[in-house]
Amino acid sequence: MRLYQIITYGCQMNDRDSEILAGLLEKRGFRAASGGEQANLILLNTCCVRKSAEDKLFGKLHELRLVKQQNPEIKIAVGGCVPQLPSQAAQIAKRFPHVDLIFGTFNSHQLDKLLDRLDASQQVCEVWESAGPVQEELPSKRKTGIRAQVSIIAGCDNFCSYCAVPMVRGRERSRHPDRIQEEIREAASQGFREVLLLGQNVNSYGKDLGNASFAKLLRQIDRIEAIDRIRFMTSHPRDLSMETIETIREGQRICEHIHLPLQSGSNRILEIMNRKYSQMDYLRLIDNIRKVLPEASLTTDIIVGFPGEENSDFQETLKTLKIIGFDAAFTFMYSPRPGTLAARMKDTVSMQEKKSRLQELMKVQAEIGLHLNQRLVEREVEVLVEGPSKSNPNRLMGRTRTNKIVIFDAAPSLIGKTLKVQIVKANSWSLYGAI
Ligand code: 5AD
Ligand code: SF4
Repeated sequence: MRLYQIITYGCQMNDRDSEILAGLLEKRGFRAASGGEQANLILLNTCCVRKSAEDKLFGKLHELRLVKQQNPEIKIAVGGCVPQLPSQAAQIAKRFPHVDLIFGTFNSHQLDKLLDRLDASQQVCEVWESAGPVQEELPSKRKTGIRAQVSIIAGCDNFCSYCAVPMVRGRERSRHPDRIQEEIREAASQGFREVLLLGQNVNSYGKDLGNASFAKLLRQIDRIEAIDRIRFMTSHPRDLSMETIETIREGQRICEHIHLPLQSGSNRILEIMNRKYSQMDYLRLIDNIRKVLPEASLTTDIIVGFPGEENSDFQETLKTLKIIGFDAAFTFMYSPRPGTLAARMKDTVSMQEKKSRLQELMKVQAEIGLHLNQRLVEREVEVLVEGPSKSNPNRLMGRTRTNKIVIFDAAPSLIGKTLKVQIVKANSWSLYGAI
């Protein structure tokens, strides 16, 4: 029996792609290597969204040079977003001759064919220049757990000036609503309790199909009784419609949590980022969400140190963060991505300054998160139990509908069940409770 190991970098979309790569490998007769077993095939599914993700990959590839020296039989494959970047595949091939197979996002569904060629020749490097139609009939091996990830739309048409995603994921392509619902029913029959609908911009869903929209899709999925909860990410502030917000309120299973990347609070920077909204537009949108969904949680992404970001721009971001009070913010230091518009601008903010802005942002957000979580102490919340807590396997971990992590003592037989939990303690990132 041949064994594989897949190492995934980056976002949930990549995570889902890795499940499909695993499915393709299992169909070919491979089995996942478990702890301690040496895999015959090591596949790295890569991310290029920030330089740090790329650096991690290159570090790993250096490490694998030794592994390959000791076990020349092992095959090493590098796929996904990094090789899909212009000229990257050839560079990886040259810099890392111990890599056997290199492919991009657009031909990852062809893994089987690529592996056939691997047996015959030395190094195989194939990257397609453009994406074909969305692939519907691919096998997949889902990660165990209660949440099934379901991709609804691939690609992105937004072209934010800092972002490599449109280059490596192509134009927006929606999956057929019937296929999506079938996939969700199947996941439910396998025991999954929750679905996470995935897309770089889920709000664009259906624009390329006619007679379909994200709100409509949510309503259709909400009727699937075998599923307890529906989540989705990511939303673009410009495209999140009132109809979608109202659909969340009316839906029984649609969770009241919206991940809505702000990126910057400064109008000047938002403009250069090509985000197509102003601070005021964003604040208005938040007002509208809160009018309809007063209990909803809001999370965001912020980039510090974008080219030309002055201290005054950063202060606008801090101010916006404080006005809104996000439940959580994922914060990043800007890094230029080759081929993007911003990469042609001067990277004016020093590393030291980027770090100090990041620190300040994280500190402010930790206080906001703590304050919001403390308001939940003594309240009773509905928790879907996911499994053992990572920090203490003797306790269980679950999430509220608003995506907050709750840790509590209960019997493992309750995994997959929805419980009422009373919150007794809170920190910036988690809640502690008792059933
Ligand atoms: N540098 C830093 N952060 C970036 N992101 C996207 N591109 C870059 C970049 N070049 C961040 C954005 C996005 C998140 C997934 O990654 O905040 O929402
Ligand atoms: Fe990384 Fe973007 Fe690719 Fe996701 S789509 S893996 S965030 S580059």
